[in-house]
Amino acid sequence: MAYIDAVRKQFETAVQETLDAGLNKDERFICSEQGVEIEVEYPRGSKRMKVLNFCANNYLGLSSHPEVVKAAHQGLDERGYGMSSVRFICGTQDVHNDLEKAAAKFLGKEDSILFASCFDANAAVFEVLFDENDVLINDRLIHASLIDGIRLCSAQRDSYKNADAGHLAKKLKMWQSRARNMCVVTDGVFSMDGILAPLDEICDVCDEYGAMLLVDDSHASGFIGKTGRGVHEHFGVMDRVDIITTTLGKALGGASGGLIAGPKAVVEMMRNRGRPYLFSNAVPPPIAFAALKVIELISQTTELRDKLEWNAKYFREKMEAAGFNLVPGETPIIPVMLGDAKLANDFAREMLMEGIYVIGFSHPVVPMGKARIRTQLSAGHDKEHIDKAVAAFIKVGKQLGVIS
Ligand SMILES: Cc1ncc(COP(=O)(O)O)c(C=O)c1O
Repeated sequence: MAYIDAVRKQFETAVQETLDAGLNKDERFICSEQGVEIEVEYPRGSKRMKVLNFCANNYLGLSSHPEVVKAAHQGLDERGYGMSSVRFICGTQDVHNDLEKAAAKFLGKEDSILFASCFDANAAVFEVLFDENDVLINDRLIHASLIDGIRLCSAQRDSYKNADAGHLAKKLKMWQSRARNMCVVTDGVFSMDGILAPLDEICDVCDEYGAMLLVDDSHASGFIGKTGRGVHEHFGVMDRVDIITTTLGKALGGASGGLIAGPKAVVEMMRNRGRPYLFSNAVPPPIAFAALKVIELISQTTELRDKLEWNAKYFREKMEAAGFNLVPGETPIIPVMLGDAKLANDFAREMLMEGIYVIGFSHPVVPMGKARIRTQLSAGHDKEHIDKAVAAFIKVGKQLGVIS
């Protein structure tokens, strides 16, 4: 008997346990372009439904924007589909270089380097810069990719309570005499709760104790801050955050790609030693062309991020007035807290029937007992879309006894 047959039962039991606990991640099938109005098959093969999307990372509504799509076509026509090479062999086109320069300028950093994803950027960054003489002190709610990146590095590790600069200060004081370099690691926006890391306070304690600061701004680049540069702009500390990692897979066009932006020396070290950079294929030309166009568009005007800000505020006010328990905050990530995983899944299913696409988030994506529907607003939403979503939330919320 093949070995897999012997262990198949174990895997089947694990799958069943996930189903029984209501934790199954039940995928829906989108049969249109990504956007606010999408067509969905659920389950696969059933009649397609036209629904409004309230759970994409498409914050600026650029995933299918005509100018972005046109730029991708131009990339495809002029430079082909793929590079068939890692960057350092024969995978670098002029447009990769242009994109890295434009991204660094947008983020307010000296230089930047492009990866296939931000997951890869986070997997690369720590191992190259730090070793057992150093310490990485991270917020306890950092993204999985930062956690994995830290795991790949031999530096010592510690953590501080979520968004708590006072606790961080205690940790830095403790490590000051025990480590060569200290680096604080945080998300700019915590994506499950939609709250901001207090970067002004964090920069102050980093300065006080002589620590570097790395921020993953994946849920902020393009729209947080007055001109959309990110959480460092929001808190007026653009020049005090040392390294930023971010994704092109959310507000910045939504395709794929990640960046590390920071001092030239850091970027050079990544180019020469970053394992996911050296051992993985280059970002395809159409994506590089389109991402460059995105940066051009959002550098010219703040119209989209302004609309997004208004949308998020309006939705939050309406949902609070309806009696929903929201995580307080000021970002376009607005979680509707439900607690029970099965309730969150049932709620999402009923919402789909009302024409609103949202998803229940449960363990291990959020802590056990803190299941929720994480809504995400987009600049692509109009007021009527938001009103329709709120009406559906109220109907389903009453039906399932979440609000009275
Ligand atoms: C905070 C954060 N960092 C990194 C990533 C990974 O980005 P990418 O999709 O580019 O790998 C994500 C995506 O979910 C994220 O939310």
